[in-house]
Amino acid sequence: MFARTDEEKVLRDPVHGYIHVSLQVVWDVINSAWFQRLRRIRQLGGAYVVYHCAEHSRFEHSLGVYEIVRRMVTEVRDIAEALNEREKVTVMLAALLHDIGHGPYSHALEGVTDTSHEEFTCRIIEEDTEITFILENCSTGLSKEVADVIRHKSANPLLTQLISSQLDADRFDYLLRDAYFTGTTYGEYDLERILRIMRVTDHNQLVVKESGVYAVENYIMARYHMYWQVYYHPVARSYECILHMLFTRLKDMGKDGIQERAYSVFAPLIHGGTISLDDYFKMDEYTFGYGFQCLCECDDPIAADLAGRLRDRRLFTYADSSPQTNRRIRDRLKKEGYDLRYYWGRDEVKQSPYVPYGSDHSGSIFVRGKDGRTMELSNASNIVYSLIHGPGKDDNKVFYPQEIHL
Ligand code: NI
Repeated sequence: MFARTDEEKVLRDPVHGYIHVSLQVVWDVINSAWFQRLRRIRQLGGAYVVYHCAEHSRFEHSLGVYEIVRRMVTEVRDIAEALNEREKVTVMLAALLHDIGHGPYSHALEGVTDTSHEEFTCRIIEEDTEITFILENCSTGLSKEVADVIRHKSANPLLTQLISSQLDADRFDYLLRDAYFTGTTYGEYDLERILRIMRVTDHNQLVVKESGVYAVENYIMARYHMYWQVYYHPVARSYECILHMLFTRLKDMGKDGIQERAYSVFAPLIHGGTISLDDYFKMDEYTFGYGFQCLCECDDPIAADLAGRLRDRRLFTYADSSPQTNRRIRDRLKKEGYDLRYYWGRDEVKQSPYVPYGSDHSGSIFVRGKDGRTMELSNASNIVYSLIHGPGKDDNKVFYPQEIHL
């Protein structure tokens, strides 16, 4: 038996109404310093420079994913019956902790550290931090079981499907939450309906009832729109491009080029190599914001300029990338004395709102027909079929200072 809190704790949430906590271990994790650190990391990286209310953090998203999983394992009858108590607690904790390894400006930073946030997530859960202690203190072996769900190695594949597939609590929460905080309505879909149509097969595979396939179509479309309107917004990508260039500049400068105050913030990145969890803990968007402020006054004109651009939102402009445009921009930049390594960036984004068959089939969405047969979603939905067989969409852009005159 897992210890309960004295009374049920409820946390007010604009997306779910309330987050309900009645397990002591869940409450202890929420109150740990590592989990509280997520308050200092925005959910959407640079999107706040486009959507000014997108200041919400990984903290509330993590609570939201937990709440959806809590509802799945208690309110969805098939799931409640398919899992034992230990599995339910394990998957709720995995939901709560699935993003614990995110660093500041996640995606821009991952390119600089060459480490994925999933790696840090498993290290934080297993490598003797406060979190490891809380989990092991609750029940021996729990930390590994939670990390196994996150790294897709769980003995019961249903646990991973609940938090990481193409119809999972992580996506359920971030779409609704990001739509709410950006003020876009594209991300909305009918979560209540999806929870009602979830079923589990005898082989522990999550399926949805055919009668509810429209709710799933709506969710896939929500995802498609959110990617192109919010996640891949070119202005947010411009912000992340400058971040990447600033970190590249800091690494190129090494210790000697930067004044002590800024160095103390960015040292683990500048050194390269494995970052210790103690150092990682201190890396958040508050400390980095302070670091940028310090860099604005440093002697290096490039680092000072890039940091100032981030602080004051003087972002790079962008154009569709083509060899011709690129040449024109690069020539102009060179003529005006810009160092291309720090003032010219290119990125290409692609996104499929749904992939019918991944490397394993675990991520696919399956539909249970009226005759009881299970089929993959694109065979049950014309909209999804058209979406995955139609022409792909990508967006290839170059970013450069808007001051240059083409
Ligand atoms: Ni997440």
